[in-house]
Amino acid sequence: MYLKFGSLFPVLWLLALSSSRIQARKNADSNEFPEDSSELIDPERNSLAPDCPKKCTCNPEGIVDCGGFSLKEFPIDVPELTSHLSLQNNQIEEIFPEELARLYRLETLNLQNNRLTSKGLPEEVFDQLENLNYLYLANNQLTAAPKCLPRTLISADFAANNLTKIYELTFGQKPNLRSVYLHNNKLEDAGLPESMFNGSDNVEVLIMSSNFLKYVPKNLPSALYKLHLKNNKLEKIPKGAFSELSGLRELYLQNNKLTNEGMDNETFWKLSSLEYLDLSSNNLSQIPSGLPRNIVLLHLEKNAIKSIGRDVLTQIKNLEYLLLHNNKLKARGIHPQAFHGLKKLHTVHLYNNQLEKIPSGLPRRVKTLMILHNQISEINRNDFATTYFMEELNLSYNKITSSQIHREAFRKLRLLKSLDLSGNNLNTMPYGFPKNLLSLKLKVNEISSIPRHTLSGMSKLQELYLSNNKLKVGSIYSGSWQDLTSLKILDIAGNQLTSIPSDLPESLEYLYLQNNKITTVPENAFESTPNIKGIYLRFNKIAFNAVKESTFQRLKHLQVLDIEGNFEFSDPLKNRDHSEEEMEEEEEEEEQEVEE
Ligand SMILES: *[C@@H]1O[C@H](CO)[C@@H](O)[C@H](O)[C@H]1NC(C)=O
Ligand SMILES: *[C@@H]1O[C@H](CO)[C@@H](O)[C@H](O)[C@H]1NC(C)=O
Ligand SMILES: *[C@@H]1O[C@H](CO)[C@@H](O)[C@H](O)[C@H]1NC(C)=O
Ligand SMILES: *[C@@H]1O[C@H](CO)[C@@H](O)[C@H](O)[C@H]1NC(C)=O
Ligand SMILES: *[C@@H]1O[C@H](CO)[C@@H](O)[C@H](O)[C@H]1NC(C)=O
Repeated sequence: MYLKFGSLFPVLWLLALSSSRIQARKNADSNEFPEDSSELIDPERNSLAPDCPKKCTCNPEGIVDCGGFSLKEFPIDVPELTSHLSLQNNQIEEIFPEELARLYRLETLNLQNNRLTSKGLPEEVFDQLENLNYLYLANNQLTAAPKCLPRTLISADFAANNLTKIYELTFGQKPNLRSVYLHNNKLEDAGLPESMFNGSDNVEVLIMSSNFLKYVPKNLPSALYKLHLKNNKLEKIPKGAFSELSGLRELYLQNNKLTNEGMDNETFWKLSSLEYLDLSSNNLSQIPSGLPRNIVLLHLEKNAIKSIGRDVLTQIKNLEYLLLHNNKLKARGIHPQAFHGLKKLHTVHLYNNQLEKIPSGLPRRVKTLMILHNQISEINRNDFATTYFMEELNLSYNKITSSQIHREAFRKLRLLKSLDLSGNNLNTMPYGFPKNLLSLKLKVNEISSIPRHTLSGMSKLQELYLSNNKLKVGSIYSGSWQDLTSLKILDIAGNQLTSIPSDLPESLEYLYLQNNKITTVPENAFESTPNIKGIYLRFNKIAFNAVKESTFQRLKHLQVLDIEGNFEFSDPLKNRDHSEEEMEEEEEEEEQEVEE
């Protein structure tokens, strides 16, 4: 990061300096010129040095800013002693060698976002710029990099050009070079020299994402700490490609074509500082072996991983996040010891796999387990017997039935705050939910009853989502809400309720009951919920005369009362028409049956 800031610094400094100086000068000038002097054109963009190019801003420190004027040509009169020159966001297509060569003091040259082609860039002059540290050429139309850049270079940005070729001395023999940006170009393996950074041992940041590389470049500088190669066509990581990179912390390899055959058990092994490895969206069928111990975040999602062997993960002692979603994992493909000893591993994503049950041997310290969108049909007594630290468990969109959830399956999850079982095959509220839950989601199941005790003791529960089930008022045990003394949100939309559930907890703030079959709202319906803020009754069958204003008048906190899409049943004529239609339909159906 500091490099990025370092490279921006001259420009920011320029802006800060120039505006304060303009201020000072304006004040000084006010004696010399009348207030309304027509000489004072555009005070924002004043030239301060006698030989400053038109429209540009210059200052005695040698900073010249000509950015953003749609300039078509390189300004001819840039002061010779300029040290920082910005010409970004113009339309320059060509620079003549002599114009650039005169500026031998240049330290920063910012030409990004112009229309420079390789033909229009006088590359032979770069080696005369013996002080050049920062070169910005991103967003141009270069097809080949300059053959030789100055030895003094610290940072070079060639992103978003059409580069197909880089030469030995483009980035080679630059002892001070720290960062090189080459993403969004058209580089293929053959366009790179054998040793792109020969004699440039201090390069720390190399960004080559979004090119057409098939191989990881060889001879990478050993000081690298950030290497981005995502969105290429990488098939293979040549032997030893990473073996010198003991300082590398961040390696992006996602969205390539890597297979396990394209690497071996020593490919990553020497990356002893590696903390962030992204291998997602490749074609791995296994987790690569020999991953180094300091990885904190490991992206392996969107591959074709079928199994996790006993010894592929256990040495990554610092692992905290393991992302394995969108693979082909089955529970029996995960070795029971696969996560053994990973004491820091707290977040595991296993969603969109083919798990038919909860894998055994889950990491003991897991806090967040995302295991939704699998084929899990049962939860056994000991599936979560060792995961005491779990706080968030998402089991939604599996095939779990109520009878296949063991009543004691959640007994050890004392810290669990959020449980999601939406989109399963539950037909009744299961027993044995952890008592400390804050949020329980059971949407889109077939729950038709809430038996006694299923919600008892859950005094911390704040949110309960039961929408799109088959609940009827009579099948909800009447004391069900009694213990839910912290409940704020209750969502029972899309069920078969014919009246508003009674004895709702006093803490309730939002009640969602839309899309039910509720016909009346008794005057005392909300007597037990004085804190309610939102009542949603849209699309029920409430008759107009079945609601009294007084029902809501005492609810001091009420902000939203949504009762649209009701009342059509209040019109007696319409009502009769409706029932006649229904009768006709029924008759038709009967006729059809007879015909069959
Ligand atoms: C660069 O590549 C883009 C996309 O292929 C193309 O539209 C553009 O014309 C190319 N520019 C040059 C200078 O080759
Ligand atoms: C690296 O540069 C040295 C000179 O410093 C040269 O002798 C050597 O051949 C170069 N190596 C490669 C692989 O280009
Ligand atoms: C890689 O595999 C080879 C042969 O199976 C073995 O000798 C070597 O120790 C392994 N290296 C690592 C880092 O596990
Ligand atoms: C992935 O690798 C397998 C062989 O391991 C190969 O058959 C398949 O075509 C590859 N898929 C892609 C998208 O490259
Ligand atoms: C579980 O995952 C689903 C799907 O991504 C998401 O909508 C839901 O909010 C998650 N549940 C929790 C409690 O985070």
